Formats: sequence, structure tokens, C-alpha cells
Amino acid sequence: MNINRFLLILISAFTAVFSDSDSYDVAVVEVQFPFHNITNENEMLNPVVEEYIKLIKSVDTNLDIILFPESTLGAQPTAVPLPYTHLLCNSTTPQYKEYLKQLSCAALEKKTTLVVNLLEVVDCKNPPPDEHCTRQGRKLESVYHNTDVVFDHNGYVAARYRKWNLFGESSKSITRSPEVVTFKTKSNDTFGIITCFDILFDVPTLNLTKDLHVKNVVFPNHWFSELPYLTALQTQHMWAQENDVVLLTAGANTPHVGSGGTGIFLGHKGALDQVIVPSPGGTKLLLHKVPRMTSSQEPAIDNVASDEDIDALAAKMDDFKLIIDPTVYG
Ligand SMILES: *[C@@H]1O[C@H](CO)[C@@H](O)[C@H](O)[C@H]1NC(C)=O
Ligand SMILES: *[C@@H]1O[C@H](CO)[C@@H](O)[C@H](O)[C@H]1NC(C)=O
Ligand SMILES: *[C@@H]1O[C@H](CO)[C@@H](O)[C@H](O)[C@H]1NC(C)=O
Ligand SMILES: *[C@@H]1O[C@H](CO)[C@@H](O)[C@H](O)[C@H]1NC(C)=O
Repeated sequence: MNINRFLLILISAFTAVFSDSDSYDVAVVEVQFPFHNITNENEMLNPVVEEYIKLIKSVDTNLDIILFPESTLGAQPTAVPLPYTHLLCNSTTPQYKEYLKQLSCAALEKKTTLVVNLLEVVDCKNPPPDEHCTRQGRKLESVYHNTDVVFDHNGYVAARYRKWNLFGESSKSITRSPEVVTFKTKSNDTFGIITCFDILFDVPTLNLTKDLHVKNVVFPNHWFSELPYLTALQTQHMWAQENDVVLLTAGANTPHVGSGGTGIFLGHKGALDQVIVPSPGGTKLLLHKVPRMTSSQEPAIDNVASDEDIDALAAKMDDFKLIIDPTVYG
């Protein structure tokens, strides 16, 4: 072997070990709800948006994606533009609420994909064909959706997904047919998106994993943990394992009703990190380099907690409500 060829092999071995191409950078955030215990959801909006932006800016790596939970922005409805039609940052169009514009600027400045969940309003004056603008024979002025909005690293709305499997949520509507939604990050990783209760159903979740073969899924949630088989982290872990995909989750944290649960699950390889913030509640950001499912690199999963840590967390979780399936007593 000549020396140049030897050097070339040495260099490629070196870059293979140290290359970033086998991973991407992720932040998932558990957010207290109601934020700072403000029970009026209109008063909550500004402080929580400030907190989102502060958290986005606080991350000091070249982020690919940051995920926030379901419902933590409260109940101020906004219109949402179709993907790639309108740059919201500094837009003067009044039907888009100020907070949506601020979040668009935050994604653009940080050069990251940003996923948030909010209350979307659709005007029924010129109803889009996929909307049900009547309810029980009555014509509605507008309809509301539980919507995930994905901003790309240039601040554009890259995707939006209206939750298909509503959990109660009687004031909200669903579209005429389920949306199967994907988006790409700046590193060209394709993600699917589902919201909370969706995880227990085939549609649209299995359309993403079985039909489109997506390898990454984001999951904003405001889960109500139930014993024995449907506590939040257990459900997330189980779904990621069964579908063998990377599942990024962000939970709204409301311990007294059993809500919370945020993590990064690497398919059959297990949880890279996971957290439930115990009472009295709070906000927590997990930041990680996530190995791609296609990479042969074994992730450094080191999340086997010590008995002392488990005891300490258990003591703090005393006020965390757990619903119990009635058949447990049957
Ligand atoms: C929210 O309320 C709980 C219980 O009343 C309290 O312990 C906690 O400190 C409050 N959190 C904030 C951020 O004010
Ligand atoms: C939005 O406005 C701010 C403040 O004037 C400015 O710094 C920023 O560059 C603007 N961004 C875009 C995308 O227009
Ligand atoms: C992602 O794909 C686009 C077009 O398909 C390409 O221009 C860009 O360079 C790719 N980016 C990366 C990081 O591979
Ligand atoms: C999703 O999958 C179901 C079967 O599970 C199928 O009936 C439906 O057509 C699929 N929807 C889309 C939009 O691909």
C-alpha cells in the first residue's frame, strides 16, 4: 500500500468516527401549564411566549429541531397560513396573531425547525373544501382546530397538522379527512407529526410509519397518565419501540391532573432521555445529539437511574395524579 492511500484510509476512518452526519441536534421541552399558575389563559400567553423564546435562544448548539408541548400557549386562536405562502416574521397581516410572528422570527434567528401547538381558527366565510363549516345543521362563522405548527429554519410555516383523534375537546373540529403530515429539517431529516391521543390509533400514525416509512416522529402532548398501561412515558416508549422510529415528545406539565412526560426515544434501542417534572411543576428542556436510526453507531444510552434517585423522584411524585383503569378493580 502506498503512503497516500494509507493516509486517505486513515483520514476517512477519522472522519467516520467524528462525523456529525450520523446524528442531529434536538431539544424537547416540558412546559408548566397553566404557566406560572396564571389561570386566565389570555393573561398566560405573553409570559409563556417569552419563555419559549428565551428557551430557544438559550440553546447554545446548532439546533436542528426544538419541540414544545400541546396546549401550553393557551386559548388565543390564530389563523395559520398554508405552508410556504407567507413569512410571518414582521408580517403586518392582522389575522395572524402577534405571538405566531414572534415565534417565526425566533425560528429564523436560531436557524432551527420549531414545532408548537396552538388553537387555530378558520374563517367560514370562504371555507376551504376540507372544513366542516356546519354543526348539527347550523352554519358556523368559524371553526377551531387543535393544530401543530412547524416553522422551518427560515421562519416559514413548513407544515401544519390538525389533530385527528380529539380527546373530548368539544369546541374543536376535525377536517373532513385525516391529514398525514411530514416536514424536513435543515439537515434533510424527514419527520412525521402526531398529537397526544393520536398515538393510540392507526390513523394517521401508521400512515406515517407503515405507508410513508418515516423514521422520525414528533409528539406534542398533554397526556393524562393512567395506570397500569397508559402512563405517559410508558406509552411513548412503547410506541417508539413497536414502530422502531425516533420519537421526540414534549409534555404539558400539570401534575395535579396527571399530565407531563417528555423524552427522546430511539426505537428498539430505548430511551435516550426522559423526564416528568414532579409537583409543584415547572419547565424543563432536554438537549441531545440524536443518532439517526440508519446509523450503525450505538447510542450512549445511560439512563438507568440509581435506587436513590428513583426513591427521591418517587417522593416528589406523591402529588402526581394517576388515573387508574377501573378494570383493575374488576
Ligand atoms: C404554582 O402553584 C404551586 C402550588 O400552589 C406552587 O407550589 C408553585 O410554586 C407555583 N409555581 C409558580 C411558578 O408560581
Ligand atoms: C424583523 O424586524 C426586526 C426588528 O426591526 C429586524 O431586526 C429583523 O431583521 C426583521 N426580520 C425580518 C425577517 O424581516
Ligand atoms: C438538503 O436537500 C437540499 C435539496 O434537496 C439540498 O440543497 C441541501 O444541500 C441538502 N442539505 C443537506 C444538509 O444535506
Ligand atoms: C391511512 O391508512 C388507512 C388504513 O389504515 C387507509 O384507509 C387510509 O387511506 C390512509 N390515509 C392516507 C391519507 O394515506
